Amino acid sequence: MLFDSYSHFNHQFPAPQYLGAKHTHLAWINKFIPSQVQTALDAFSGSQSVAFLFKQLGFKTITNDFLNFNNQIGLALVENNTEQLRKNDVELLFSHAENKTDFQLMENTFTNVFFQQEEAAFLDNFRANIPLLENRYKQALAYAVINRSMTRKITMGHFAHTQALQYASNPERIKRNSSLIKPLKTIFKNLLPEYNYAVFDNKQDNCSHHANILELLPTLENVDLAYFDPPYCDSHADYQSFYHLLETFTEYWQDKQFINGIKRYEPQRVSGFDKKKDVIASFEKLFELAENIPHWLISYNNRSYPSVEEFEKIISKHRQVQIEAKTYTNGRGGKGSVAGSKEILFVCKPKKKHFVSIIK
Ligand SMILES: C[S@@+](CC[C@H](N)C(=O)[O-])C[C@H]1O[C@@H](n2cnc3c(N)ncnc32)[C@H](O)[C@@H]1O
Repeated sequence: MLFDSYSHFNHQFPAPQYLGAKHTHLAWINKFIPSQVQTALDAFSGSQSVAFLFKQLGFKTITNDFLNFNNQIGLALVENNTEQLRKNDVELLFSHAENKTDFQLMENTFTNVFFQQEEAAFLDNFRANIPLLENRYKQALAYAVINRSMTRKITMGHFAHTQALQYASNPERIKRNSSLIKPLKTIFKNLLPEYNYAVFDNKQDNCSHHANILELLPTLENVDLAYFDPPYCDSHADYQSFYHLLETFTEYWQDKQFINGIKRYEPQRVSGFDKKKDVIASFEKLFELAENIPHWLISYNNRSYPSVEEFEKIISKHRQVQIEAKTYTNGRGGKGSVAGSKEILFVCKPKKKHFVSIIK
């Protein structure tokens, strides 16, 4: 490891609260990263924990998630090498938004669902100010920190339940998590220093995308390592129900319906990896498109569909595979994180070519 890379590890990744995030498995995953990687892709990057590790290791890092709120973390902490949110930026974000229109998406949609009216209105005001920040990296930091503030404030850190306000008035729950009753503004101010400090320059031209990976892969060249951490089909794969609120806040949708008690946007983006009927065809396509990337690391869970054995067969058509496993000892591992379930890593390298000499 270069000397520079050591100093990159002074910049800690702000702990995420995201289903299936790999921040607790990074040391383990790191052991299987091949040597001499220059460019690495985190294809389903979610909270960006693995992309951030790649950046710390000094790789040119390409990161991607089809949800824009995750891409904003990638822009803020992976692509961005220098920009932080300063005092005047924060003042601007909290100031009365002159450009605010009558279209108050958060207040109209989520009051009394996840927030009291005042907090929902605060979010509309904050959102209207984000584009006034002077560049896309400051804007991305603002999205990343306010979105994280929302997961702090809502019990269980996701938005697929309608108990948020009930829990926020339960003294037992408040004792365990005082953020439930803190204003978003306070949570934002408390979190910001950690995010600012996570911004560093690894002297590479890193970039963050939000695309369906099957559309992004054909546009990439000269990637040495791909990390694939797809949704674990059949075991908590519904990211758009869990985190719809963050995507709605980031996109500020004007053309969606908001359905069910949780007010999830509809129609959703198409993943291809979250439904049993599509997932095998999607993997086949993914691996064909990644043929030019020599090394793959693939995270998986032994409770997903297809089974580990079946999945290994699919991968083996393309790569030589070694299977590594780590057993969860508690239920805190993320998606499918029931005690006893296993986090699997398929370590894949190019197949050895056999040359047969023909003697004439
Ligand atoms: C298991 S999570 C990744 C977790 C991540 N490694 C981390 O440490 O936080 C899977 C991610 O895949 C994304 N995703 C699902 N379908 C996708 C697609 N077709 N293209 C790109 N990303 C997709 C989801 O939004 C979700 O964030």
